[in-house]
Amino acid sequence: MSEPSIPYTGPERVFSGVQPTGALHLGNYLGALKKFVTLQDTHDCIFCVVDLHAITVPQDPKTLGHNTRKITAAFLAAGLDPKRAVIFVQSAVRAHSELAWIFNCSARMGWLERMTQFKDKAGKDKERASVGLFAYPVLQAADILAYKATHVPVGEDQKQHLELSRDIAERFNRDYNAPGFFPLPEPLIKGPGARVMSLKDGTKKMSKSDLSDLSRINLEDDADTISRKIKKARTDPEPLPESTDGLKGRDGAANLVGIYAALADTTDQAVLDEYAGKGFGVFKPALAELVVQAITPIGQELERVNADPAHIDKVLADGAQRARAIADPIMDDVRHIIGFWGS
Ligand code: TYM
Repeated sequence: MSEPSIPYTGPERVFSGVQPTGALHLGNYLGALKKFVTLQDTHDCIFCVVDLHAITVPQDPKTLGHNTRKITAAFLAAGLDPKRAVIFVQSAVRAHSELAWIFNCSARMGWLERMTQFKDKAGKDKERASVGLFAYPVLQAADILAYKATHVPVGEDQKQHLELSRDIAERFNRDYNAPGFFPLPEPLIKGPGARVMSLKDGTKKMSKSDLSDLSRINLEDDADTISRKIKKARTDPEPLPESTDGLKGRDGAANLVGIYAALADTTDQAVLDEYAGKGFGVFKPALAELVVQAITPIGQELERVNADPAHIDKVLADGAQRARAIADPIMDDVRHIIGFWGS
C-alpha cells in the first residue's frame, strides 16, 4: 500500500509480545528478548505477555496463569527492568480486545487468508480452527496500536503479521478520515538472530512446540545440556567455508554460524573469517562456550525470580496500570473518531 499523505508525528515507542505457551528458547532470546533489553536503554518500551493470543488454541486454565508468570520471570531474568520498561499481561488491559474488534471491521478477509502462520497452525483441518486463530494477527495489530507504538522488535517469523498491522493502521486512518492518527509500525527484525533454526533440522525454525527437546536450547538448560545439544546438532562433514556464499545449501552449518554471530554481536562473515577451514570438531565447542556464557546466567537468574511469585505479580499489576494509562486516552480518541455514542 502507498504511504499515507499525512505521516504520524507522535513520539517513538517500542512494543512487543511473547505468548505464554511454554518455556522460552534460544530463538526467542535472540529474535526478541535480547533486542528488548538493548532497546529499553534508548526507547520508551512496552513488553507484554500475550495470553489472549495463547487461547486461540486450547489452554489449560490450571496452567495459563503459571505460564504467564514464567514468561514474565524470563523477561526479568534476561535483564528487563520494570522501572524502565512497562511489563504487563494482555488480558489485564481491556483496550486490546476492544481495539481488536474495531480492527476486525477494518481488516479484510483476503488479507488474513494470505497469512502463512494461520495456514501452518490450522493445518489441513482449517474448518476446525478457531475464529480467534484466524483473527490472531488483527489482535496483534491492536496490541501495537493501542499504544501507538512505532517500532516492534520481533523474529523473522512475525514479518508478515507486522505488514498486516501497517495495512490495518493505514486503512483505519483512511476509512475514518483520521490521517496520521495511527503510526505505521516498523518491524525491527534485522540481524543474525532473527531466524534461529532447529538444531535437528536446519530448514525448520527452532520452536517451543517441536517434539524433540534436542532441537532447541531452552533458557533453563544447564551448561552440560547445552554442550550436549550443540555437539549433537545436525551439520555436515565439510569444514567451514571462507564466505557466506559457501553456506548455501548447508542449513545446519549456516544456523550454527548465525547463532554464533548473534551471540558475539557480529556478522556471519566475521565468524567465517575466524573459522574458515576449521571443522565442527573445533567450531562446536567454541559455539557451546558462547551459548553457555550467554544462557546459563539467565537460567540461574530465572530460578531466583521464580522463587518470588509475589514480586512477579507486583511487576504485572504495576505494569497493567501503566499500560492502561497510555492506552485509555488513545481508546477515547478512537471511540470519538468512530462516532460511538457518548464519546
Ligand atoms: P511468540 O511467543 O511465538 O515468540 C516470541 C518472539 O520470539 C520470536 N521467535 C524467534 N526468533 C528467532 N528465531 C526463532 N526460531 C524464533 N521463534 C520465535 C518471535 O518472532 C517473537 O518475536 N505473534 C507473536 C506475539 C505477539 C506480538 C504482538 C509480537 C502478539 N502480539 C505484538 C509483537 C507485537 C508470537 O507469536 O510470539
